[in-house]
Amino acid sequence: MSKIETLVAGELPANTDKTLEASVANLAAADVAAIRGLARGMHCGVDRALIERLPKLEIIANFGVGYDGIDLAYCAARGIIVTNTPDVLNEEVADTALALLLMTTRELPAAERYLRAGKWASEGPYRLTASLRDRTVGIAGLGRIGTAIARRLDAMRVPVVYHSRHRRDDVPYRHYADLAAMAVAVDTLVVVLPGGKSTRNLIDAAILKALGSNGILINVGRGSVVDEPALIAALNNRTILAAGLDVFANEPNVPAELIALPNAVLLPHVGSGSVYTRDAMGQLVVDNLKSWFADGKPLTPVPETPWPPSC
Ligand code: NAP
Ligand code: 8YV
Repeated sequence: MSKIETLVAGELPANTDKTLEASVANLAAADVAAIRGLARGMHCGVDRALIERLPKLEIIANFGVGYDGIDLAYCAARGIIVTNTPDVLNEEVADTALALLLMTTRELPAAERYLRAGKWASEGPYRLTASLRDRTVGIAGLGRIGTAIARRLDAMRVPVVYHSRHRRDDVPYRHYADLAAMAVAVDTLVVVLPGGKSTRNLIDAAILKALGSNGILINVGRGSVVDEPALIAALNNRTILAAGLDVFANEPNVPAELIALPNAVLLPHVGSGSVYTRDAMGQLVVDNLKSWFADGKPLTPVPETPWPPSC
């Protein structure tokens, strides 16, 4: 890659930046007319206005498997390839989801705060909690990450069912075509759905009510999938028991009402956030750009992108 062909928008891990260094230009300094590749890092939208400033843009390599926030229709119309970082983060995000599920169900953050406050000695043992032992988990979105979560639950002997638009023949879990029917059948809902129009506010007041007063909601997919005001009301009224969230509707802003709730465990979108996994994601961003500029082939194009090209 020549020096100013690739622009980095947003933050990338330090190791990725080093790998890209030879080809990075920053927007202010760059000759925008020459830019042919864009590495989309964290905390950065890629809207039509930005893409319109880059007349020679051929590829956007997204840092993350989720690529909501990129104007895909406009990219497709311009023939711009969009790639993402699938698979390399599955196990990390599944680890985080299980940690969040255990933290929420067994109230582990509150129990730790109890000890640190000296209450174990002064007030006695921490109270007994809910358990995974008598639960059935419904996974909304049994894709790459959802499957890695299901495998962990298998090992923990927790029954799993799932909801997605298409039934899978390669898994032993019961499929629910109807999310509401699954919410009635389970007491624990783990959401690993992508963002975007088709999933916006899918988890609404009716789904939470169906989950029931023993219900636990875990969301490691996208904040936009959950109707946040409805969730806050459901946690306040004890319509459900508790929630564990790694993603929020308007990150990094988390509503004060949510932060005040004792029955919510909240993480700052750390699902893939280890040095190991973020470096692997960054490497895939670099590899997609290199492959495109060397061989004219993206390694992991998103399904909506114009690849392979129709002649
Ligand atoms: P994936 O393999 O594409 O899986 C997505 C699953 O969602 C599929 O099972 C798909 O099945 C289902 N789905 C999609 N749209 C749906 C809809 N409208 N209704 C019902 N089901 C739907 O994606 P992945 O790699 O597992 O990643 C999933 C998402 O996790 C990402 O898009 C991202 O938003 C999020 N994520 C979060 C973190 C984090 O740090 N918290 C990290 C990585 C990823 P059907 O097509 O059959 O419906
Ligand atoms: C990243 C994620 O933290 O891959 C995703 O979809 O949500 C996370 O792995 C995020 O993409 C970085 O902005």
